Amino acid sequence: MVIVLIGPPGAGKGTQARLLVQHFALPHISTGDIFRATTEVPSKAREELRKLMSAGKLLPHKLVMQVVHERISRQDCTNGYILDGFPRTLEQAAMLDSLTRSERHKVLVIQLDVPDSVVNSRLEGRQLCPICGEIYNTSSKLPDRPGRCDLHPTISLIKRQEDNPDKLRIRLLDYENLTTPVIHYYQQSGRLERLDGTGDINIIHDKIVDFVESQLCGS
Ligand code: AP5
Ligand code: MG
Repeated sequence: MVIVLIGPPGAGKGTQARLLVQHFALPHISTGDIFRATTEVPSKAREELRKLMSAGKLLPHKLVMQVVHERISRQDCTNGYILDGFPRTLEQAAMLDSLTRSERHKVLVIQLDVPDSVVNSRLEGRQLCPICGEIYNTSSKLPDRPGRCDLHPTISLIKRQEDNPDKLRIRLLDYENLTTPVIHYYQQSGRLERLDGTGDINIIHDKIVDFVESQLCGS
């Protein structure tokens, strides 16, 4: 089984994926996390990636395909995986279909629906642990000690460079233009569940689990 989480920046894809990992014991593949880790290593090509990501722009198609292909070919993905941030274009969705067909994995797509105004304030308050990637929020998901990761208390939480209103506008535009067609594509093939991504994090998690389990029972 492959669970795909789709939603605008700040929809809660990473937050929900981390909870689903615990529930379904599948690996979490976040293309954003993979590229953020890559960009920490200085080199000319990586500097380019860092610039694109900080500007809120999508990364080159070929590179994204290579990285995803390599990651999902690993042993831990044999029984499936949870995708967060991929696919976000029709080309990427076509690639995923061809890979999952050959592996005979069923693809379940969850769209987290969150209005732009909510996304804006969520990203303003987002903080991350630079070690484990745990996601916090200064108003909706506070760490035990302000500015410190619960799991790595000596480490200060950080902000993502692209989490500001100007870059958010660029990211939302790409989402509208490039990812909305992906949503329609999955809708037409009956694989999409649209969920309200606002409200309590655990209630949203329960709804995702209910949907996934209902699909597994029906297959
Ligand atoms: P990526 O990392 O995928 O960023 P994104 O899609 O913009 O999504 P975010 O990570 O910002 O939001 P999220 O939905 O994960 O929300 P979160 O759970 O953190 O991609 C980054 C960049 O990498 C791209 O811009 C591009 O450059 C590149 N890239 C990645 N994939 C690519 C691809 N396929 N093709 C090309 N380029 C690619 O939650 C947000 C905040 O809200 C947190 O503070 C959280 O605590 C809080 N929160 C979550 N849920 C709730 C809730 N229910 N109520 C209240 N607060 C909540
Ligand atoms: Mg994320």
